[in-house]
Amino acid sequence: MVLPLGLTVESLRRSRGAFEDTIGLPPEVYSAPEFHRFEMDAVFGGEWLCVGRQEQIPEPGDYLAVTRAGEPLIVVRSADGSIRVMSAVCQHRGMCITASVDRTDDDMFDPPDFRSGSTRQFRCPYHYWVFDLDGQLIGAPEMSRTTDFDLAEVRLPGLAVEIWNGFVFANFDLEAAPLGPRLAQLDAVLANYDVASLVTVDPVTIPDVPFNWKIMIENFMEMYHNSRLHQGIHDFAPSSGAWYADPVDGSPAMYGFNRTVEPDGGFNPTFKALFPPFPGTTMEERQRVVFALVAPSLLMGFQSDSAFWFHVDPTGPTSHALSMAYIFPASTLELADFDETLGAAIDGVSNFNRQDMSTNVAAQMGMRSRFAPRGRYSWQEGVLAQFNSWLVDRYEAAAER
Ligand code: FES
Ligand SMILES: [Fe+2]
Repeated sequence: MVLPLGLTVESLRRSRGAFEDTIGLPPEVYSAPEFHRFEMDAVFGGEWLCVGRQEQIPEPGDYLAVTRAGEPLIVVRSADGSIRVMSAVCQHRGMCITASVDRTDDDMFDPPDFRSGSTRQFRCPYHYWVFDLDGQLIGAPEMSRTTDFDLAEVRLPGLAVEIWNGFVFANFDLEAAPLGPRLAQLDAVLANYDVASLVTVDPVTIPDVPFNWKIMIENFMEMYHNSRLHQGIHDFAPSSGAWYADPVDGSPAMYGFNRTVEPDGGFNPTFKALFPPFPGTTMEERQRVVFALVAPSLLMGFQSDSAFWFHVDPTGPTSHALSMAYIFPASTLELADFDETLGAAIDGVSNFNRQDMSTNVAAQMGMRSRFAPRGRYSWQEGVLAQFNSWLVDRYEAAAER
């Protein structure tokens, strides 16, 4: 593949390395349609993408309808208990099997709504071709006069699947190297949170967030802005207490910590955790937050009493779909006042989100400007140089293919 827009490997490499020496990525990578097309292949075509959590589909037939890299996918618990990820594109004439056809005059021309749920088989709403939970075609009406048509030869294309700490990852590259071994260092950091056993609560998806997916990841991961943009509401965890783990070569995991002034801090007006601390965490862990990225799609935050995940999925050069949810220990979900306390926690986080999202929208506008920078970085945003390095490696590899 050729690098688009006349970009050169030499120019991209100026963003590869540590924060002390590097500069930001070329601004075009945040807005140009040509670069978006290149990046969808260079980054999303062969990396492990998070598509959900295992506890969201506990029983055989439970499935999630998701879209990743523009592809409608089905994440399903198969009859044998394993999790499969396959294309939702009907192999007859391309209807998306999980798309709703139950629409109103107002939304019939909008992008499809995809329905998650529970089923014994997937029946395409268009002509009723039926696929089993493994994606095998098992029924197709009125096809007996069609020459050499064999059900056994038709199936929904599958993706490679791997489960890491309860997160389901899929890869369009069926030969991709396994993900787990490259996340070992992050595993150790998260061990006391028992992430595999955590339970996702009320996930939501915002389909068209109006800025580039990398702007979302950068804003989530860097702690330079905590004491500035969030001045006053982030005082329990000042930016001066931030540090980042050294990158591991070839690993998509990047993560950092922000020490809190007191143990059991929280993102709400009381500055205090609202739920009991994670069982099994140390006092040191209770006095810090952890922000982690499994590039390019999964963001996670861990605080004293709760954690949350974001899935980031580009939908265009300046837009992405953003899914998010809290994840809690099962014991927290059993608390009598859980729903009420969750409401208070969500209200608290909204104060941060309003500032972050307004900033991201404005930063997107700035990165489209003729005056857009390739700026320098503070030590408090060292993780951005790590993320850029990871991206540049993939851009460069794609350019060599
Ligand atoms: S497109 Fe699915 S059955 Fe025809
Ligand atoms: Fe923020």
